[in-house]
Amino acid sequence: MRKVFRRLIRSQVGRSIFRHGFPDNPKDQSLVMTSHFLSHIHPVKVKKHGLSFTYTFGLGGLSLTCFLVLVFTGVLLMLYYVPSTERAYEDMLNLRNNASFGWFFRNLHRWAAHAMVALVFLHMCRVFYTGSYKGPRKFNWVIGVFLLLVTIFLSYTGYLLPWDQLAYWGVNVGVNLAGYVPVVGDDVQYLLLGAKRIGQDALTRFYLLHVVVLPAVLVLLMALHFYRIRKDGGISGPN
Ligand code: HEM
Repeated sequence: MRKVFRRLIRSQVGRSIFRHGFPDNPKDQSLVMTSHFLSHIHPVKVKKHGLSFTYTFGLGGLSLTCFLVLVFTGVLLMLYYVPSTERAYEDMLNLRNNASFGWFFRNLHRWAAHAMVALVFLHMCRVFYTGSYKGPRKFNWVIGVFLLLVTIFLSYTGYLLPWDQLAYWGVNVGVNLAGYVPVVGDDVQYLLLGAKRIGQDALTRFYLLHVVVLPAVLVLLMALHFYRIRKDGGISGPN
């Protein structure tokens, strides 16, 4: 087996993928350990307090975990849901009552969404409490504010999708509030609804925002957020 691997790695194709040949000597073994992808995404050094659970309470990591659960369960829900005013409510009932494990994945999606909003908010409180918003992390705080706003907007756009009474009237309240914003209120309202009242156009827009636009924006912002944590010298220390 070892011989097959060695031959594979030394072949032209193998050398184009693995940079350091077969690691059968101490030098190649340490090169493999220090230059592989996982070492690349992990910091070389971590400060001791950064590992202390009671400093961060792992709230940022838990927010990310919720997001991953939401993507996984959301993709499964998309298999059974059609964003049409004729079908959405029926599809949701069918998902809840008939599809295998439909009730489980739908509830997991809802609870993870509630948890994510709460965890992101608590994470922000922790960052504030430990004074981690100060320089050099000011820019990351600003990215964080956008992360919170996009998370809340994701939750709001998802609220309309079951197309039940609660969804309809709940979103009505929000959209009417947006209409009161000075100068741009009416335009924002029309942009969200695509019409004068909530109907098929609004459902299509909310669905598109919920499953494509906002998750993509969140992923980009999170990539920037994590990159900045590394570039700002890792987790802040007690001041
Ligand atoms: C989707 C939302 C978010 C995710 C997934 C996320 C993720 C993370 C993670 C994993 C960390 C590393 C340490 C920790 O767990 O506390 C962190 C740190 C940080 N986050 Fe967030 N975060 C989010 C939202 C926010 C918000 C809303 C703010 C503030 C408005 C914020 C500001 C910061 C700052 C300044 C740091 C550096 C803290 C330090 O060095 O002590 N983040 N974030």
